[in-house]
Amino acid sequence: MQVFHSITALRLFLKNQRQQAKTVGLVPTMGALHEGHLSLIEASREQNDITVCSIFVNPIQFNNPDDLARYPRTLEADCTMLAAVGCDAVFAPSVEEMYPEKALLKFDFGDLERVMEGKFRPGHFNGVGIVVSKLFNIVQPDRTYFGQKDLQQVAVVRRMMIDLGFQIELHPCPTLREADGLAMSSRNRNLTADERAIAAHIFEGLKLAKTQLLEGQKPTEVKAMIEEHFGKESAFRLEYFEIVNAHTLQNVDSLQATSQTAMCIAAHLGKVRLIDNFVF
Ligand code: PAJ
Repeated sequence: MQVFHSITALRLFLKNQRQQAKTVGLVPTMGALHEGHLSLIEASREQNDITVCSIFVNPIQFNNPDDLARYPRTLEADCTMLAAVGCDAVFAPSVEEMYPEKALLKFDFGDLERVMEGKFRPGHFNGVGIVVSKLFNIVQPDRTYFGQKDLQQVAVVRRMMIDLGFQIELHPCPTLREADGLAMSSRNRNLTADERAIAAHIFEGLKLAKTQLLEGQKPTEVKAMIEEHFGKESAFRLEYFEIVNAHTLQNVDSLQATSQTAMCIAAHLGKVRLIDNFVF
């Protein structure tokens, strides 16, 4: 496995691969890798000759400076894990390499970003749009792999690819969970032992909500139940719980036969912000 810090060196490597008619899969990450990330690498390995994993803690998608400062950075351990699952190349640029000048371009994803993550993290999806489109242009992959854990990110990237005409296949991949149901996340490492012990309440809340929805309760009633449920758990601060159309991300007032429904949640547990969702 080769590790690149420079765009020029990575481009040269990829040009060589393409001259041998090899297909390329890209898995964009911010590092502090876990099994969830590795499942994306495995999906890419199955479908492509060469798999590139980018590791870049993208400062412009963080709206909270403490979150950026606390974000775990573990490049060496990440590379060991990536080599073990057969990743071919790692692209780990510095901030200066990615942003020699401050990006002036601004993405606005309209209604897709006025809700949930976009509403509570202003500017977040602009930062995601800039870094992902830049990675797409640098790597020019045939396929790219994103986790459904970040459902809104998948919707925004899908839309950006349509609007900008990227000729890349987007493959959304299922969320990997710990044994107790907690969605794997790089931020889980920042939980204290006590917080970790109760973090799966988010998953349990989603399960309860799903059961009630399938039993015929209205989304507004299920939402009120979840808000009350987390209101009682003083360790958590619920930021949002929404029941939405999985593609438009707009609220639904009933389950729809023709399109997927998603339940999305964000909650703070101590200093850590956790998100999760179910799609059905
Ligand atoms: P990061 O949070 O590192 O996630 C990288 C990819 O791994 C994302 O597509 C995310 O959805 C996926 N992922 C995270 N947890 C997962 C889990 N438990 N199961 C399956 N997949 C999971 O998302 C980002 O980085 C950034 O916003 C990025 C796209 C790299 C742009 O900076």
